[in-house]
Amino acid sequence: MAGFNLLILSISFCVFQSAAQSHQEGGSLKCVSDYKSTLSCAWNTTGKLRESSCRLHFTWTVSRRQKKLQRSETCELQDSPSDPLMQSCSVIAGGNQKWQTFTSITVITSRVKCGNSSQDAANITFKPSENVKMHPPFAPSIVDSTNITWSLNQSLISVYLQERVFQIRFKRKEKSWEDARVISEFRGQEWTRLNEKWLEQDAVYETQVRVKPRVHAGEWSEWSPVTEWRSQVGN
Ligand SMILES: *[C@@H]1O[C@H](CO)[C@@H](O)[C@H](O)[C@H]1NC(C)=O
Ligand SMILES: *[C@@H]1O[C@H](CO)[C@@H](O)[C@H](O)[C@H]1NC(C)=O
Ligand SMILES: *[C@@H]1O[C@H](CO)[C@@H](O)[C@H](O)[C@H]1NC(C)=O
Ligand SMILES: *[C@@H]1O[C@H](CO)[C@@H](O)[C@H](O)[C@H]1NC(C)=O
Ligand SMILES: *[C@@H]1O[C@H](CO)[C@@H](O)[C@H](O)[C@H]1NC(C)=O
Repeated sequence: MAGFNLLILSISFCVFQSAAQSHQEGGSLKCVSDYKSTLSCAWNTTGKLRESSCRLHFTWTVSRRQKKLQRSETCELQDSPSDPLMQSCSVIAGGNQKWQTFTSITVITSRVKCGNSSQDAANITFKPSENVKMHPPFAPSIVDSTNITWSLNQSLISVYLQERVFQIRFKRKEKSWEDARVISEFRGQEWTRLNEKWLEQDAVYETQVRVKPRVHAGEWSEWSPVTEWRSQVGN
């Protein structure tokens, strides 16, 4: 009986092993930056065995007075609450979110290291200037019944990201965000005017906004916090 159990154990162990080996390449590693000082990566572990914890190592080079200096940061990868395959972490390079640490020539290498292994479980090289994800705007406000306005935390905006586009979405409170109407603002203005025809008087609405650089490649920020209001105007 004991032998039989051992056999099953070793079979399942082998299955495990080969599953782990077939994923030796590691998952895909995706990194973004606010193009100021924050770095964030998400790693798809693709079910790779993780008996040990994993970290991210970031390295890049800066030039100071003809000298090339190596800079580095690390963070501990954490499980994502929403997706069991994903791990992610963020770090502020240089320790201060307000510093403009990255420039157009910064190139970052990011490596996943697990346990004691000296090998990378995954790695990627990327430019903060071309993989931008800005911080979300503050919660918007409603002025004059139909004017949605918002703003950004100025101390978190890269000096290189002066041109920005926004998306605003709003919906009836009881509806889901899939049913929301989405408005795009390409002119960089931090307000948008709702058409009264879109609103029903006395109904309660919710709105939020997100931001993206206009020129530099990247993705939308997370949505801002939600603002709720009761419409004074409409049908
Ligand atoms: C990047 O990771 C791969 C495995 O995914 C590894 O073979 C390669 O050596 C790593 N590159 C560097 C520069 O360490
Ligand atoms: C992670 O990788 C697995 C296997 O390749 C894939 O099925 C899954 O969609 C990926 N998840 C994300 C969030 O990319
Ligand atoms: C990692 O290295 C330490 C010290 O070198 C050792 O005590 C530990 O057993 C190692 N852990 C693994 C998982 O290999
Ligand atoms: C909406 O509000 C903003 C901020 O108060 C203001 O600058 C803008 O002119 C207003 N837009 C309209 C159409 O009233
Ligand atoms: C803007 O960001 C800075 C840097 O993280 C933070 O200290 C400050 O509290 C933020 N401002 C607001 C109004 O949240």
